[in-house]
Amino acid sequence: MDRRPFIYKLLVCVSLIYVLYVLINNVVIDPGAEMFLSHKTSPGRELKPRIWLTVMYIHVGFACIAMASGLINFSTRSYEKRRSFHRVNGYVYVTSVLFAVLTSGYMAPYATGGKMSSIGFNLLNILWLVMTATALVHILKKRIPLHRRWMIRSYAFCFTNMLIHLLTLVFHQMIGLDYVTSYTLGLYSSIALLIIAPEVLFRMEANYREH
Ligand code: HEM
Repeated sequence: MDRRPFIYKLLVCVSLIYVLYVLINNVVIDPGAEMFLSHKTSPGRELKPRIWLTVMYIHVGFACIAMASGLINFSTRSYEKRRSFHRVNGYVYVTSVLFAVLTSGYMAPYATGGKMSSIGFNLLNILWLVMTATALVHILKKRIPLHRRWMIRSYAFCFTNMLIHLLTLVFHQMIGLDYVTSYTLGLYSSIALLIIAPEVLFRMEANYREH
């Protein structure tokens, strides 16, 4: 039995539901991000809400495009039958990652949780850029299996925001820690999980091929 189609279908469902949730939450339910901003307690730097919001919307837009374009390029049909589309869509992904990282760079110093969270987000910025650039270099040198591996590693970071919010919910609502501590813990736990998850997937694939 080939497991990949199931994993891919699961990824499609989770990504679609999440992109819809992000758009509805940020455009309809809380367009001013008031809920999120209410947790920012006397930050070291003064946050300018209008500029922050504009940058946040650009960030969300490009993050959603990265999520969608990456997902499309993982479909077998995309890279086996429509190579030129795969290439153009791949550059859409890389450009979206670049803008999501640039906007994240602006927001990081104001992150909920102060300096600790800022460091975490800057670490994420570096990791996401390096993994995406490595995937690009591999395909420019026609190393397809390595390109695929690094793209999976890069794409995992599209789930950063979802994972941070899920884990914050666990630490805050289920364990009872205060919101800001939960957010910072959620951030660092997400970084660890997003690095580990692709390696687990590669191990599972290797085991499956052996048996
Ligand atoms: C690709 C999927 C992503 C989506 C859909 C997304 C979405 C969002 C949204 C909606 C916010 C506003 C606050 C909130 O409601 O959480 C936000 C904030 C932020 N995002 Fe992203 N994001 C994504 C990935 C990333 C990645 C990979 C990074 C880092 C490399 C990042 C860095 C940031 C930063 C620094 C903030 C501000 C956090 C704060 O003020 O505490 N995001 N993101």
